[in-house]
Amino acid sequence: MLFVRRFAALAALLLLPLSLQAQYLNTTFHFAPQGMAGTDALVVLVPAESEQLQLSGWSQQTVAQISRAMAAAEFDGAVRQRLEIMAPAGLDVDRLILLGVGDPASLQRPVAEEIGAALSAHINGSNAQVIEIHSELIADNARAVDIMASVAHGVDLRNYRFDQLKSEPDDRPSQTYHWVSAATGDLQQRYNALRALAEGVFTARELTTLPGTDGNPAAFAEYAANTLTPLGVDVTILGPEEVLEAGLGSLYGVSKGSQHKAHLLIAHWRGSDDRPIALVGKGNTFDTGGYDLKTTDSILVMQTDKAGGAAVVGAVKALAGQQAAVNVVGVVPLSQNSISGEAMLPGDVLTAGDGTTIEVASTDAEGRLILADGIYYARDRYDPAVIVDIATLTGAKSTALGSEFSAIFSEHDDLIATMTEAGNMTGELVWRLPLGPYPGIIDSRIADIRNTGSPGAQAGAVFLQHFARDTPWLHIDMAGQAIVSSPSGIHPAGGTGHGVRLLTEWVKLYAGQQ
Ligand code: BES
Ligand code: MN
Ligand code: ZN
Repeated sequence: MLFVRRFAALAALLLLPLSLQAQYLNTTFHFAPQGMAGTDALVVLVPAESEQLQLSGWSQQTVAQISRAMAAAEFDGAVRQRLEIMAPAGLDVDRLILLGVGDPASLQRPVAEEIGAALSAHINGSNAQVIEIHSELIADNARAVDIMASVAHGVDLRNYRFDQLKSEPDDRPSQTYHWVSAATGDLQQRYNALRALAEGVFTARELTTLPGTDGNPAAFAEYAANTLTPLGVDVTILGPEEVLEAGLGSLYGVSKGSQHKAHLLIAHWRGSDDRPIALVGKGNTFDTGGYDLKTTDSILVMQTDKAGGAAVVGAVKALAGQQAAVNVVGVVPLSQNSISGEAMLPGDVLTAGDGTTIEVASTDAEGRLILADGIYYARDRYDPAVIVDIATLTGAKSTALGSEFSAIFSEHDDLIATMTEAGNMTGELVWRLPLGPYPGIIDSRIADIRNTGSPGAQAGAVFLQHFARDTPWLHIDMAGQAIVSSPSGIHPAGGTGHGVRLLTEWVKLYAGQQ
């Protein structure tokens, strides 16, 4: 078994150069110490306070024209500045694009990614097909490699499209990017890790964006298995009967009213023999609200209520793709919250896997019902060192923090610290909210606990805390961050894949401290 898994992982690694071109990205990257003939767009990363640019091989005439253009446009390499010069004198390219990177020493990774994303959007709006990027003006070679890799990652992230349901997808002319660097090996290595991360993000975007019916619990689980198994991840899927047999009555209850019954997906990447790190993601494949029906337009994006589960699948994929030396188990409870004669009723009492009885004060607070059993199952079967759950859990979180921050909850300051660090590193920012004291916040008159309380985001968190018991645990509420309606920064319109980069980097930070 171990041999098979390792072999599959090795095969996946050997295939990496071929799989660089994912089927939905018509873009090829090359890393080389020199540029190539036939370039349409020459891109130069320019540090702050540059007055005159001199790349190797440029004539005096070229340098003079570019200096004039820079002065006229007041371009000096400040971060995020862009200057495009068409038909530059003495250069055999249609366009020269200068990208300001500010002070290379202090340029943050998320900013470099946004610079890449903006470049990608700009190139996609032009007819350029062969693009050559230079970093030789950045004096510090190690920084140049890091920045270049992050810019390339930003190009990838922005370039993704979900067009498999269009009978005639928009044309996507093939593009070739040549990343020119003296340290080609370092750059390729750094980029490959980020590419694996991007593949995880794409998987999460795909799963998030799938319509409710196409992305039903069984289909979600199968999609995850198909993408994870070839990377050497052990995937187990519990169907509805097995969910019931395992006693996961809270998970099962949510999808009783749907023809698409509950599933539980378990994806285990055993890259080390440490105690496992458990990631639990809300996989509610559509949220009608149930009998507490959603009556506003918010229902129109409720196919994205599986984004937490998608983030967990994406993070496991990224870690496996990176061959990370971590032991991580992803657990995704999958449900569809619908109405029918079989559906759970407001006021019903469900019994979770750990025996807790739960009063369903709102059928629309379904996320915590399925996560309760996901967290219990992870704890009971894997004895993890730590559990992190991630979910589009409450509108209250969205109201409080908007879409720039996720809310995090934990009694463990060290988990808050590492998650905050991972957030700053990736730009997927987090902000701590308290777990209490909120006396009686989820008390029920007729059952052990109930699934609503006030304040709303905290009630969800306190509810989940009950199921983590003594295992160190952190909850991420990412409501409002699953989808964007128009492209911005590293996101094309649609599912964001939010949480993949946060979880992936956090797992490695946490494992490194163990
Ligand atoms: N999936 C929603 C939360 C949500 C709302 C996500 C808006 C993204 C955008 C969740 O299941 C829900 O309905 N929560 C309720 C809980 C309430 C009934 C206690 C909410 O926040 O209104
Ligand atoms: Mn709901
Ligand atoms: Zn929901």
